[in-house]
Amino acid sequence: MTITSIKKSKGVKPLVMITAYDALFAKLLEPSSDMILVGDSLNMSFAGKSDTISTTLEQMIYHTNAVCMGAKNSFVVCDMPFGTYINQEEALKNAIQVFQETPADSIKIEGGADKAEIIAYLSSNGIAVCGHIGLLPQAVRSEGGYKVKGKTQEGKEQLIKDAIAVEKAGAFCMVIEGVKADVAKEVAASVGIPVIGIGAGKDVDGQVLVFSDMLGLFEEFTPKFVKKYMDGASLVKEAVKSYADEVTCREFPKEEHTY
Ligand code: KIV
Repeated sequence: MTITSIKKSKGVKPLVMITAYDALFAKLLEPSSDMILVGDSLNMSFAGKSDTISTTLEQMIYHTNAVCMGAKNSFVVCDMPFGTYINQEEALKNAIQVFQETPADSIKIEGGADKAEIIAYLSSNGIAVCGHIGLLPQAVRSEGGYKVKGKTQEGKEQLIKDAIAVEKAGAFCMVIEGVKADVAKEVAASVGIPVIGIGAGKDVDGQVLVFSDMLGLFEEFTPKFVKKYMDGASLVKEAVKSYADEVTCREFPKEEHTY
């Protein structure tokens, strides 16, 4: 995929986006995905923290390089961590660092109309930006939790304003998270770039899921919008238990595993 083909997919086919944090999984996910997101959700799934707030730029650069090594043909989006785009200059300095130190195709920043000037500044300086509106995980502490958006008329109007502002600022697509399905549908219809949903119903221009959620590997909690396509945690535990049992009773290694 390229920026052009991603934009052209609107109204033609839903985009498949999935997160990855390492080369191993990126390689496995690449054949079935249009875009790979190195989400700052890695701070939870990979680093075991309770939210994304403490993610660092260095972490994002490290994991983005790993993902790009595993998925050499994918369009890769790198999330900008909390605090790295507080103004235009900081945002550009940090986005340039991502572009210079990784082969990522784009960065993603959270925020709507309030971030439009920053998105415009990045775009006009050669940084491809994926927006992120609706529920913003980086606002978890300031908002006192993960709050579904678009529940009131005012909330819906704000989301439409956000989407239009993000598009006008030059973003090539945006994620919409944690928004009532009927509202997300209206938001997607109000802009000309793809709106990729997570917890935003089916009537948007694509879907994104965190890979460890959809593979059932992340056991801490399961948001309502997650479908587990396999029970990864049970499969891994069963496999490791079999290995441990066989080691204990000297059943492994066998002749065929021995030099
Ligand atoms: O960090 C992440 O994985 C994300 C998705 C939830 C869209 O931003």
